[in-house]
Amino acid sequence: MIGIIAATVQEREALCKAFGAEAKGPMEYVRGRMEGKDVVLVQAGIGKVNAALCAQKMIDLYQPEAIINVGVAGALDPDLHVGDLVISRDAVQHDFDTMYFGDSPGYVSGVGLSMPADQALMEKAEKAASALGLSYRIGRVASGDQFIASPEKKEWIATTFQASCTEMEGAAIAQVALLNQVPFLIIRAISDGADDGAPVSYYEFVEMAAERAVKLIDAMLKS
Ligand code: ADE
Repeated sequence: MIGIIAATVQEREALCKAFGAEAKGPMEYVRGRMEGKDVVLVQAGIGKVNAALCAQKMIDLYQPEAIINVGVAGALDPDLHVGDLVISRDAVQHDFDTMYFGDSPGYVSGVGLSMPADQALMEKAEKAASALGLSYRIGRVASGDQFIASPEKKEWIATTFQASCTEMEGAAIAQVALLNQVPFLIIRAISDGADDGAPVSYYEFVEMAAERAVKLIDAMLKS
């Protein structure tokens, strides 16, 4: 079984629409078959704690063979534009700060900085994205409990972590997946530039971007 975790209502709707699944509320797991694969879908709600809780519960209840986190993100890389996809090479938590204990920014006690995604899932996603002719990048996802809408903060995250995009759940799911030895991948479509215009851009493009990210999962499941 493959577990798929979204965060927001818009991301959940995109998933349920694509897969003809019944939409349920936050933290309610929906089982089904998609493209011949057993799947379990859930909307975690926004932020790292919701995401981590939801991922651990999913693993305990369903023992998924892999977890995919799907949704939208703010672009950090200037070459990424609204609608472009990011396939995670790894994930970091940009708001994790124990620098006073001598750690570098983002270093997570007991886990480290970089949480690497599953290589085989990355390759499947890349193949599916290029077969669909989607504009994508394989890169680092920087997660934190903050909606980034400031050029200064964006610049700090981008340069400190060399990350492609920022969102609020992926690295928390990554941490839980790694600690449980479950392969994971994050697929995000850009909804905004994580700058002054981010709130407006987010609301304008969130549905389109979420649908695009889901389209890639659909193609991956088919393959
Ligand atoms: N998700 C989509 N855009 C985002 C942003 N700018 N910051 C954090 N999470 C996001």
